[in-house]
Order: sequence, then structure tokens, then C-alpha cells
Amino acid sequence: MSWRVVSTCPPFAQTGNDAIRKLRAAGCALTHAPGGGPLTGDALRTALAEADAVVAALDVYGDAVFTALPKLKLVSRWGVGFDAVDLAAATRSGVIVTNTPGVLDETVADLAFALLLGVARKIHTASASMQHGDWLPEWGADVHGKTLGLVGCGRIGPAVARRARAFNMRLLAYDLRPNGEALSLGVEYVTLEKVLADADFVSLHAAVTEQSRGMIGAGQLRLMKPTAYLINTARGALIDETALAHALNKGQLAGAALDAFCVEPLTRFHPLRTAQNVLLTPHIASLTTENGGRISDVAATAVLDLMAGRRPTFVVNPEVLTSTALRARLTATIS
Ligand code: GLV
Repeated sequence: MSWRVVSTCPPFAQTGNDAIRKLRAAGCALTHAPGGGPLTGDALRTALAEADAVVAALDVYGDAVFTALPKLKLVSRWGVGFDAVDLAAATRSGVIVTNTPGVLDETVADLAFALLLGVARKIHTASASMQHGDWLPEWGADVHGKTLGLVGCGRIGPAVARRARAFNMRLLAYDLRPNGEALSLGVEYVTLEKVLADADFVSLHAAVTEQSRGMIGAGQLRLMKPTAYLINTARGALIDETALAHALNKGQLAGAALDAFCVEPLTRFHPLRTAQNVLLTPHIASLTTENGGRISDVAATAVLDLMAGRRPTFVVNPEVLTSTALRARLTATIS
């Protein structure tokens, strides 16, 4: 049985040649939804009207979408975060959701550290002024020997800690569960308040949950040193963006480097675009060609597995596997 597979994810088309070949060789009819996404509501329902599976960008999935798409069996997230998918709704409707953990950690850690270095040494403003025809040497801040605070230290946090060790940094982390690799790297687990108060660089690596949404608000920003920097390669929703723009403009912290935003694409006149000493990138943490190939491969493998009646490796709503709603959508057997 071959499936109709729709990709809503431009990076899959750009870097997933091998994965695309494998899907087509297995008989999948693969199409790419037009536009840059993320898709929501009617646009998503239209794009996926005939789909058995979707290779998904950060599209927004909830009850209304799943109910309108009775053929859909799999949302294969191209990436690791699945906060835009209502998992309870997926499970109720009998739709499996998978992601691609593990393959992108080092690549995201590279960008987190690049942002840290970039904002501390003002590489973004120095480059912009050079390109503008000026010669304006700027003073930055040392990175080596400083304190790095990781908020969330699961898979990507330890990869950032490894890089920081080479810069002789002191390492603090806040997480509910200490990570073995982080402990072996000398990461000291402390409260969120202590991370914010002591760190010269605070780097966010937490998933968005009911507990973590908005965890960096005005009160938390006030705890940071005026010489400290905030780095975010995780999710915009961890931060109160209005409070951050205000804190930057008041000089409550020295700068921020942000790759993720509450609403993406970031709106044209968003206050963060004009905030003091902010380095902004358009959610590129995973976007290297090598990493694109790896993620595409894992995302496509989930489709191929389910299509062949196998259980995909990285199911994030495993309760769905025994549901009657899934059985109603599937004709193959999951082993
Ligand atoms: C990127 O944001 C991802 O979820 O992998």
C-alpha cells in the first residue's frame, strides 16, 4: 500500500534529497505544500486534505484539524519540538506524532554558542556598520572564564556545556532532572533564580510546557546582571518578549541573541526588532545542510516505518498506539 505524503516543511525539500528518494522508491506520492509555513487552520486542512502522512514544519495541529483530516495517520515533525501539536487531540483522533531527537543537538549547540560569542563581541553590529561603509570599532565582553547558565539541560544543554568548557567557563544549570553528561562536565545544578543571578550568559534549552511557558518574564529578567546576556535557541514562548524588549532598552541586561520567537515569522514591527543590543536570527538553529539531511532522514523513516506496519522509533504520543481511533485510521498492523 503506498501513501500520499505531504511536506509542509521547505527545509525537507531543500536538504532531504536522499529521504525524498527513499519515500518515492517505497511508492509514496510526495508533494510539497507551497509557502514557507508554519500553516494553520484552513490552509493546513487544505494542504493535507488527501494526506496519509505529513512531514511537518511548526504547523499548528489541534482537534479541528485532525477531525477534518480523517485520512491522516502520522504527523512526522521535521525537528525535535512538538509544542505546536496538541498531543491529546492527536491521540483522541488516532494520529501518531513523531519527532527527530538526537540528530540535531550538536548543530543547535553550535548556533547557541555562535550567538553567545556574536552578541558578546558585537559581531552583528560591527559587520552591519562595515557593510554600511563605516569603521566603528566597538567594545564587547569577554566570554572565556565567565559563567554560563543553562536553563534546561537535556540533550542540547550538555552539548553547549562541552563547548563552554573549552572556553574555561563555569557551568550552572537549572533543570528538573540532572543529566549524567552534564554532571560529568562539571555542571552545577542550582535554582532558576541562582542561574539568572549568577550567570554572565543565560542560554535557554527547555521545551515549552504549561510550566515553562513564559518562564523568563519581567521578574526573572530583573534578577539578571546588567552585564549579562540572554541566548534563546529553544522556543520564543519561554520568554515574555515585551518584557525582554523593555529590559534591553532600559539596560537591565547587556544584550540578547534570539533565534526563536513566540510568533514566527517575527512580525515586521515587533519591539524586539529595534531593541538595544539584540542579535536576531530567523529560527536557523537546525539549518545546516548536513543536519537537514539527518533530520529529513529520520522524519522520512517514521513515514516508511508506519507505512510498512512498523512502530516508528520516536513516537511522542505512545498512548495512541493502542487506541481504537488509530486502528480506524490504519489498515496496516503496528508491531
Ligand atoms: C526546531 O525548532 C525543532 O523543533 O527542531
